[in-house]
Amino acid sequence: MRRMDGPCLIVGAGGLLGGSLQKRLIAHGNPVIVYPRAALDVTDAEAVRAALKQTNAAVLINATAMTDVDGCERDPAQAALINATAPGILAAAAQDIGAVMVHVSTDYVFPGRTEGFYEESDQPDPINVYGKTKLDGERAVAESCTEWLIVRTSGLYGRGGKNFICKMPELFRNAATVRVIDDLNLSPTYVLDLSDTIIKLLDRGNRGLYHVVNEGQPSWYEVARVVARFTGAESKLSRASHREFPLAAKRPVNSSLINGRLLEESVWLRSWKEALHAYLLTCS
Ligand SMILES: NC(=O)c1ccc[n+]([C@@H]2O[C@H](COP(=O)([O-])OP(=O)(O)OC[C@H]3O[C@@H](n4cnc5c(N)ncnc54)[C@H](OP(=O)(O)O)[C@@H]3O)[C@@H](O)[C@H]2O)c1
Repeated sequence: MRRMDGPCLIVGAGGLLGGSLQKRLIAHGNPVIVYPRAALDVTDAEAVRAALKQTNAAVLINATAMTDVDGCERDPAQAALINATAPGILAAAAQDIGAVMVHVSTDYVFPGRTEGFYEESDQPDPINVYGKTKLDGERAVAESCTEWLIVRTSGLYGRGGKNFICKMPELFRNAATVRVIDDLNLSPTYVLDLSDTIIKLLDRGNRGLYHVVNEGQPSWYEVARVVARFTGAESKLSRASHREFPLAAKRPVNSSLINGRLLEESVWLRSWKEALHAYLLTCS
């Protein structure tokens, strides 16, 4: 198996995961090349092929995506272009230069009608456009190159992120009341832990499909309760149902993941609560 024997090229480094991976790879002593969105549109096959040929990248990390789940439902063509077509373009270009393709996917490839804790061997069956296009992206990667690593994660949060978990500390400081749904479960994952595990997998030469999440399957309410306690604002928090917030895209009821392959290989990630505490300490 080929290990990291050259620079890592990151596309999507302006996003939450891409930015974190850039910092962690540099801290790990690995040279990094970054193409910001303004310099490279990953949906432009010609531009991607030309850009990669100018590098000696050993690894190409795709941290781009259209992550706005309701936005994907409203604009499925754009979602398909970014989440499904672009990963195939990137994987083919990685193959051309002999680089390993790293692609990131989501728990939303699963329907979430069950008890959750989906493993890599479970059958995907997405229920919204985001999940469908991300699953198509996984397949495009596997079909377009031979050396690939696909990492599925869930409920990603960290400094600089724009999603609900990232915004919770500020919300509890500023709002009078905060209602959070208690009937959708996930595996919230700290971007730092995901980044370090991706680097570990690359160092070890691992290939194929991996689930990488902090351990557990809390509801959004349970996540919010930890944040509320930390910010001393527990009295502001109350429970809600997802049925009270009609959204464009259907959400899986329980899309939590289990790190089946990592556990087999004796690689452990800390629990979601421990990781969330570590994140909250960086916010105060
Ligand atoms: N966030 C989550 O909760 C979550 C959960 C499970 C899995 N994931 C997966 O984890 C990965 C990273 O997510 P993230 O939260 O870090 O995403 P993010 O913060 O939304 O970052 C995505 C990046 O992709 C860039 N991008 C979009 N279209 C592009 C294009 N055509 N060409 C070049 N760049 C483009 C965006 O640029 P602009 O900012 O300019 O648009 C942004 O910098 C994604 O594959 C996502 O599906 C995320």
